[in-house]
Amino acid sequence: MSRRPLLALFASLGVLAALTSASGSGASSAEANAQSKEKRESAFLEAQRCALCHSHSDRARAMTTLQGDDASPHGTWSATMMANSFRDPYWRAQMAHEVELEPQRKAQIEGLCLRCHAPMESHQARLDDRDPASFEEALLLPLAQDGVSCTVCHQAQPTNFGQPSSFSGRLDIRDEKRIFGPYASPSTGPMRMHTGFTPEKGEHISSSGLCGSCHTLYTQAEGAAKPFLEQAPYLEWRNSVFSDEGTRTEESRSCVECHMLDQGSMRIARMPPGRDFNIAVRDNVRGHAVLGGNAFMTDMLRKNREELGVTASDAALLRVAAATRAQLAHSTARVEIVNPARESGLLRFDLVVENLTGHKLPSGYPSRRAWLSVEVRAGGKNVFESGIVDTEGHISKVADELAQPHFDVVRSPEQVVVYEMVALDGAGKPTTSLAEMVEHRKDTRLLPRGWRSDGPHADETAPVGTQGDDDFMGGRDTVSYEVALPDGTSGELLIVVRMLYQTIPPAWVNGLRDSKTDEARAFVRMYDAAEKLPETLATAALVVPAQ
Ligand code: HEC
Ligand code: HEC
Ligand code: HEC
Ligand code: HEC
Ligand code: HEC
Repeated sequence: MSRRPLLALFASLGVLAALTSASGSGASSAEANAQSKEKRESAFLEAQRCALCHSHSDRARAMTTLQGDDASPHGTWSATMMANSFRDPYWRAQMAHEVELEPQRKAQIEGLCLRCHAPMESHQARLDDRDPASFEEALLLPLAQDGVSCTVCHQAQPTNFGQPSSFSGRLDIRDEKRIFGPYASPSTGPMRMHTGFTPEKGEHISSSGLCGSCHTLYTQAEGAAKPFLEQAPYLEWRNSVFSDEGTRTEESRSCVECHMLDQGSMRIARMPPGRDFNIAVRDNVRGHAVLGGNAFMTDMLRKNREELGVTASDAALLRVAAATRAQLAHSTARVEIVNPARESGLLRFDLVVENLTGHKLPSGYPSRRAWLSVEVRAGGKNVFESGIVDTEGHISKVADELAQPHFDVVRSPEQVVVYEMVALDGAGKPTTSLAEMVEHRKDTRLLPRGWRSDGPHADETAPVGTQGDDDFMGGRDTVSYEVALPDGTSGELLIVVRMLYQTIPPAWVNGLRDSKTDEARAFVRMYDAAEKLPETLATAALVVPAQ
């Protein structure tokens, strides 16, 4: 209690500032500034205002699955990482640390980070032709707190979708009070009356170029010759069988088709209290539970909800975490053990690893990693193990986790195959700081199915550090194991393989441990208190008969 961090104080001050409209003489300039910004007519609205009609209610015959679950846009969105992009304590810590390292670039760094993590404030600043809020100011703005919210995606115009001018979060959003959705001829009256926004059909809402704007991120280190591609799920997807830009094939899957599940037929709005309106039942209504792999952070948001100002219920956060883990376990990867052979004290086998996602695996934020954990058991005892994780989330026997090379053949326990990217700074040292990355030391993340070295964006998305590994290719990798068995091992052998995954490995948190900022201290404290079991993406087991 006594060590209540400053950011929580700021957040609660923010609530006060929003409630007391007349700014007292004691108000700081940041508060006064923030208040005057809020008074101006905004192009955006908080999600809570849309929840009036686009949320679940037990009485409404709308936005409910046949099983009776909440299928509403607001209900399924509110506990996702996108809804919490501004509350995310790792994001706050990383941004504060980057500013600490380069204080002269504070406005530039925060301006970039807010563009996707607090897009409503960032786009409002652009529309108002003013500088975006600093992080301290943004803490007082409800629109910033609301993260990637309804009126961001639904107001984006398709003019620059898929073009470089849209990347790094540069959506074309105008103050026209038009809300685009997938359905023809929506009933416009109720929404216009309660929000001032008019719904209309805009097919572009379902296009991957919308997602691609924020899911393609370039950063540029001070003095670097060219920008560094930090996140690229959209560019990776374009160079895969899944892309539907150009001709659509049987295999095409847009971001929306994999990430927003079809919930069936239902009404897409309900009555606001005291009013009645008659609207159609719509088909193929997609949920807004847009999930990736970050169940770890979803748990952290739930466990630190008061300090972080999280508004989604515990039940909703638990649902998102469970659904994320289910997606990781069932739709993300496959591992198969093939060609087992045993001869004079040596066990050989191959692992075929498959990427089932629509981009690299892992993709997105560069801290993500997946690896192969392999155990060989004889008579109930492990005679070989590699890739085992300890309680702190370290991969055991890997001394320097940012210096692990790629392996095509594994012969000893320290040779762990880790699918990951490692970036170097201008001095050629591995770095976890976004504003310092200039090139890849390693990018061995599994390629999406259909990736080609002459496909779109191949130069930028090509693997680094897999030279000589000819079976590392679009959608898969094959790793050979040659395990020396202890003398006298003659009985049956059991091979157990797990593909494991972590969103925030310890080495990435180490980069924040020396930081003096309140945000980094708060995050490190939350991280150290968290359970660091990795997620399981795939498992396989095989019995090798006695000799
Ligand atoms: C172009 C949009 C964009 C910009 C600009 C941006 N980010 Fe992000 N950021 C994302 C996306 C998208 C993710 C999530 C990707 C994923 O889950 O793999 C993310 C995730 C993160 C995470 C990981 C969060 C977690 O819980 O694991 C951190 C940390 C982060 N960003 C820091 C920053 C910092 C610092 C800046 C400014 C230098 C910044 N971001 C600028 C889009 C952006
Ligand atoms: C990340 C972008 C994004 C955000 C944030 C978002 N939506 Fe959507 N929304 C979409 C997309 C994409 C579709 C269309 C899906 C399809 O192809 O059918 C959609 C569809 C809809 C629909 C049509 C019915 C349905 O569920 O498919 C409604 C209503 C809707 N959104 C309301 C909202 C509201 C209210 C919020 C905020 C609580 C919100 N959306 C937040 C992207 C978004
Ligand atoms: C007073 C109730 C009400 C409020 C508040 C409201 N809506 Fe709607 N919304 C509706 C109705 C009614 C429809 C039309 C449903 C239909 O015709 O199937 C609709 C339709 C939509 C659609 C689908 C449009 C299409 O053509 O596919 C989207 C997207 C949407 N609303 C987003 C929002 C967003 C974002 C907000 C908050 C800014 C919001 N709504 C606030 C009642 C409301
Ligand atoms: C074929 C289905 C599929 C398609 C198409 C697809 N995804 Fe994914 N995506 C997944 C699965 C499964 C995961 C969870 C595993 C993971 O985290 O990588 C995921 C994870 C993610 C993540 C989190 C990555 C991480 O490891 O932190 C982001 C961000 C993402 N997707 C964005 C996108 C975007 C943007 C598109 C469109 C350009 C897209 N996805 C297309 C299946 C798909
Ligand atoms: C305005 C920018 C923006 C747009 C548009 C956007 N995203 Fe995101 N997305 C983000 C940010 C920021 C995060 C990371 C939040 C964090 O981790 O703090 C994120 C996270 C994600 C994740 C990772 C969740 C997890 O658990 O790891 C997925 C998957 C994702 N987005 C898919 C999509 C899809 C699909 C679309 C298009 C329908 C889309 N996004 C549109 C900014 C955006």
